[in-house]
Amino acid sequence: MLGKLANGIADDFLTSMYLATRAPVLVAPAMNSNMLAHPSVQRNLARLAEQGVYFVEPGEGYLACGWTGKGRLAEPAEIVAASRRLLQPDGRLAGRSVLVTAGPTCEDLDTVRYLSNRSTGRMGFAVAAEALARGARVRLVVGPTPVEPPAGAEVTRVRSAREMHDAVMACAGDVDAVVMAAAVADYAPAAGAQAGKIRKSPGALTIRFERTPDILAELGRRRAAGELPVLIGFAAETADLVSRAREKLRAKQVDLVVANDVTQPDRGFAVDTNAATLVAADGEEDVPLGTKRALAAVILDRIESLIHAPVTT
Ligand code: C5P
Repeated sequence: MLGKLANGIADDFLTSMYLATRAPVLVAPAMNSNMLAHPSVQRNLARLAEQGVYFVEPGEGYLACGWTGKGRLAEPAEIVAASRRLLQPDGRLAGRSVLVTAGPTCEDLDTVRYLSNRSTGRMGFAVAAEALARGARVRLVVGPTPVEPPAGAEVTRVRSAREMHDAVMACAGDVDAVVMAAAVADYAPAAGAQAGKIRKSPGALTIRFERTPDILAELGRRRAAGELPVLIGFAAETADLVSRAREKLRAKQVDLVVANDVTQPDRGFAVDTNAATLVAADGEEDVPLGTKRALAAVILDRIESLIHAPVTT
């Protein structure tokens, strides 16, 4: 069942219902302990968590198959309590709104070609899902990605860095926090997209690129002037992770930089797991490898305390 849910296979009532519903989904897994530890099952559980599914942890003890270990169905009272918590979110961010950007941007070179990156939006979607679960109103500005944003967010789709800039600026003044998880292109063709297809010729091709607007830096300037909400930036780095993140924190005038090393296969782009160092003026916090949703929960904890802290400029 977990395998079907994680992979979108809908061949019976329950699995079809899972795809069709917009209600929160709570799963109480129960199985043999070796099965639970199997990488395929763990992958399915992680994928479901990333999709916003909630879990009641299985208990330990004597299993129906005769083994003793982890895998017992949680007690009915625990399942009922978890359902209650889900239906009445703790609301720590009730009445607050969060703007999240996610995914890549695409800078068109001509009618058929573009420059982009490997971001899929999963990290931003995890932040959005966590903010929704805490009762916030969530606006999502999303670059092109095949991954579905979490239900309940107000989604604006954009393509280029310029479009993302305009969509973010249109509502940044009305929210309590901005989380820039998008991988925004730093450069776009100076002359814009060429109409039609660039024709090949025997020699090399030179295209001049110019800088795109740095959305986060612009928000940071307004934040420093006391106009704007809490600002969280991301730093995808391939070397000198923490020192570059600290430099970004200062240069972009943001409250927190979430730095992650994108050279490792199990974190960063296009996977459901991540590890990061949260860099703020008062120090660093390492978040070990886990689901993107788990990292999102730590980021949201920080946002909650920043929202309640006095602004220092
Ligand atoms: O400077 P760098 O691109 O490494 O900084 C990454 C952070 O800045 C991310 O939070 C990203 O969303 C944001 N960014 C931006 N506008 C750009 C480039 C990056 O807001 N043009």
